[in-house]
Amino acid sequence: MSEEVITPSPKCFSAPFNSKTAEIPEGMSKSEWKRQQKAKLFEEQKKEWTQKKKEKHKKLKAERKRQQEELIASGAIEAPVAVYKPPLKKVNAQVIIDCAFDDLMTDKERISLGSQILRVYSDNKRGPLTVNMMLSSFNKKLAHRFNTNMQGQHLQWKNVKILEDDYQIPGNDNANWVYLSSDSSNVLNELDENMTYVIGGIVDKGRYKNLCKDKADAQNIKTGRLPIEKYIQLAGRKVLTTNHVFELLLKWFEFKDWKAAFDAVLPQRKIIKHKDEEEEEEEAKEEEAIKEKEEEEEEEEEEEKIITES
Ligand SMILES: C[S@@+](CC[C@H](N)C(=O)[O-])C[C@H]1O[C@@H](n2cnc3c(N)ncnc32)[C@H](O)[C@@H]1O
Repeated sequence: MSEEVITPSPKCFSAPFNSKTAEIPEGMSKSEWKRQQKAKLFEEQKKEWTQKKKEKHKKLKAERKRQQEELIASGAIEAPVAVYKPPLKKVNAQVIIDCAFDDLMTDKERISLGSQILRVYSDNKRGPLTVNMMLSSFNKKLAHRFNTNMQGQHLQWKNVKILEDDYQIPGNDNANWVYLSSDSSNVLNELDENMTYVIGGIVDKGRYKNLCKDKADAQNIKTGRLPIEKYIQLAGRKVLTTNHVFELLLKWFEFKDWKAAFDAVLPQRKIIKHKDEEEEEEEAKEEEAIKEKEEEEEEEEEEEKIITES
């Protein structure tokens, strides 16, 4: 099958623009003009290559299926057994991703948050548990990105409430609400299925300390931070990404145990081992080293014995 090259990003467009003959707006550099032309061309051709990509993917899938069927028919492989997927178990808790900080992010950070929200949606859909998920203040550039670049896929999402406005606390009864913030002095040792948990929808690389805590304080909502220090030692900052925090909540409801939740969610390179485990490992290494030394000494004694005897 001949491989068709599909343009994956605006960077791949060679610039067919002649900046010598073009009318570049006053005050704009040549490179900025070229960047804008490329982005425009990319937008114009994106639909076409997305379509081509989809068709190519469909063809490949059909080909793989045909090959598999041939192998099954010839007895070379066994037919796959359908795996039973139990239905999602619904947890009563509500988890809100607060997208009110749109203006504080760079374009790149907003793109990253968009991907994190996709991740959150798919984690909540994949199970085994699912919570009541909501996006609030979904009304600016992030929403625009979902509506345009991301082809409005969020409009097909099931079991997710998407609010353009900020969340509202029913009857102003905030007793069952907690805004999660790494800046909170309140440690959440346990979660509660009857609560609403708010997670800040922002990628800020640590620029805005207390941002979410201040918002929660102003709205009289309690805050809580995850018990990171108590259960794991995280290499680097104690501020987690929005999708990791969401997934941690799901995993806590599944295991009812923070250590298990952290282990399941965070990449192992981020986790420094528990002190006890580290100490145990250190002790085992020391014991091993002592044993090796003793064996070496015994061997040397044995050798000396052989030499003096011979
Ligand atoms: C990248 S952080 C945003 C940090 C931001 N400067 C702030 O004021 O929260 C994204 C969100 O994840 C949640 N989060 C991150 N680390 C957390 C932690 N250690 N404990 C509780 N929530 C955390 C918070 O809801 C936070 O708003």
